[in-house]
Amino acid sequence: MKKVCIVGASGKLGRYMVQHALDRGYAVVGVCREQSVDKLADFADRIKIVPGPTNDREVIRTAVSGCDGVLTVLVPWGVHGYASGTARAVLDYADPEARLVFSCGWHITRDGQDVYSRWFLMMVAVIGWIARLFRAVDLRDQVEACRRIFASPRRWTVVRGSDLEEGESEGLPVWSHHVGDPVLASNMTRRTDFALFMVEALTDDALIHETPAIVGRMTSSARAHRGAAADAATI
Ligand SMILES: NC(=O)c1ccc[n+]([C@@H]2O[C@H](COP(=O)([O-])OP(=O)(O)OC[C@H]3O[C@@H](n4cnc5c(N)ncnc54)[C@H](OP(=O)(O)O)[C@@H]3O)[C@@H](O)[C@H]2O)c1
Repeated sequence: MKKVCIVGASGKLGRYMVQHALDRGYAVVGVCREQSVDKLADFADRIKIVPGPTNDREVIRTAVSGCDGVLTVLVPWGVHGYASGTARAVLDYADPEARLVFSCGWHITRDGQDVYSRWFLMMVAVIGWIARLFRAVDLRDQVEACRRIFASPRRWTVVRGSDLEEGESEGLPVWSHHVGDPVLASNMTRRTDFALFMVEALTDDALIHETPAIVGRMTSSARAHRGAAADAATI
């Protein structure tokens, strides 16, 4: 991996990904809205910035050219297909062999085998309804974006984040195939570690065509899982 594009580089997750990518010695191209270029001031002399909306096909075509990896923050802003437009542009224009890693939340399901608590489903429904009412966010568009990604033969990974918190890194999150698996029960990940997982996924071919649901490695459910695995190994 030599050169990566980060689509949505100026957001919280995006800036952590920029730092992790630079730490690995990658050349970085960041895409962000014009009004957010200043949010990348700390990196301005170390990355190339392509300003523009992330669903602008020409912006994406320019930014992903020559990149071996593309990290995309999928956010369903507005009600005009922002997330699905972004995903489509990345799928259409990234180099044929590029690794494509997308972010979303646990609410996205690929095979319908995820098991959600009633509370989680209620929160997604209520927040989704209110956000759509005010035309701020349309979660259905993130679902549509992911449907397109899942149908693509490209070398993609969709990383599904738990609830997020700020704080120092606790190391690479652990992951599982399905929400509802006991290891994920704590439902919390440090945002910097969500970004770490995204960047690590670029070079982990075992994650191609996977939808890992992640959780912080120091959370109680992740620790309990490690303890149970160690007990099983000593029997
Ligand atoms: N927040 C959570 O608790 C949570 C939980 C699970 C998963 N996730 C996933 O994590 C990812 C990012 O989450 P985050 O909370 O860390 O947010 P974030 O990093 O702040 O990212 C927000 C992104 O949305 C852009 N944005 C903001 N307002 C916009 C608008 N009106 N139009 C277009 N773009 C706009 C931001 O760009 P600017 O810099 O230009 O504003 C930024 O790139 C998403 O994929 C989300 O599904 C989040």
